[in-house]
Amino acid sequence: MKLNHISLFITLSIILLVLLPVKSSIIFEENQNSTEQQPRVFGLDCYDDNTIVVRIVRKDPSKFQCLKDYLSIRTIYPNGTVKEFDLSSDTLNIQPFNFCILPKYPKANPLRFYPVRKNFLLITYAEADDINNFYTYNDWGVVIDLDGGIHSKIKLGPSYVNITTKDWKPGQDSITLNVHRDNGFLRTAPLTNSTGYSLQQFIM
Ligand SMILES: *[C@@H]1O[C@H](CO)[C@@H](O)[C@H](O)[C@H]1NC(C)=O
Ligand SMILES: *[C@@H]1O[C@H](CO)[C@@H](O)[C@H](O)[C@H]1NC(C)=O
Ligand SMILES: *[C@@H]1O[C@H](CO)[C@@H](O)[C@H](O)[C@H]1NC(C)=O
Ligand SMILES: *[C@@H]1O[C@H](CO)[C@@H](O)[C@H](O)[C@H]1NC(C)=O
Repeated sequence: MKLNHISLFITLSIILLVLLPVKSSIIFEENQNSTEQQPRVFGLDCYDDNTIVVRIVRKDPSKFQCLKDYLSIRTIYPNGTVKEFDLSSDTLNIQPFNFCILPKYPKANPLRFYPVRKNFLLITYAEADDINNFYTYNDWGVVIDLDGGIHSKIKLGPSYVNITTKDWKPGQDSITLNVHRDNGFLRTAPLTNSTGYSLQQFIM
């Protein structure tokens, strides 16, 4: 009987703990004027210290399946402070096609971001020497800080071209942060015209 009471007590405490009310401790309002498209969250990641980085996008109604060509990052610090920056594709020197989604590959996002070392983001995207020739597309990375300052740019390797259809499939590389983020990151990417993969380590 006593044991039953104890187990009931434990069960109740677990239920009470589970039912603890969730409350919001951070409220951030995205500035929005009436002419702009609705903002959407297009990606979210965090640093080891629980600082969260959110990418916000807006559709570009004048183009097919494209976003406004801005990189908009909102950083939410554990203390509730929110910092923001918006960099245009011109400032970043990133070709606008990186802000479009190809109908054939709706899940292949050309522009991605990774919280590399504290206060820094790695942005990966593609750069075409000749926009009409997919074999001239290369994946690049640019390192920016959370104030939107651009630090360095690096060519990562050729972009993936589907060997059957000969069309560009964006964002096929995958970036994995080193266990010690300060030591950089690993990149794996399928190779065009081959069944092989490349594995590279980048130190920053
Ligand atoms: C609304 O935002 C857009 C894009 O940032 C800007 O071009 C436009 O001038 C703004 N309109 C008003 C009324 O503030
Ligand atoms: C919150 O943390 C950030 C990053 O450490 C710092 O820049 C900011 O001043 C802090 N804000 C407050 C209100 O303490
Ligand atoms: C390449 O294109 C073909 C035909 O559309 C498709 O079946 C295949 O899955 C594609 N390969 C990759 C790696 O996406
Ligand atoms: C792949 O093959 C195409 C067509 O044969 C060629 O134009 C291209 O340069 C090759 N690309 C690579 C990375 O080997």
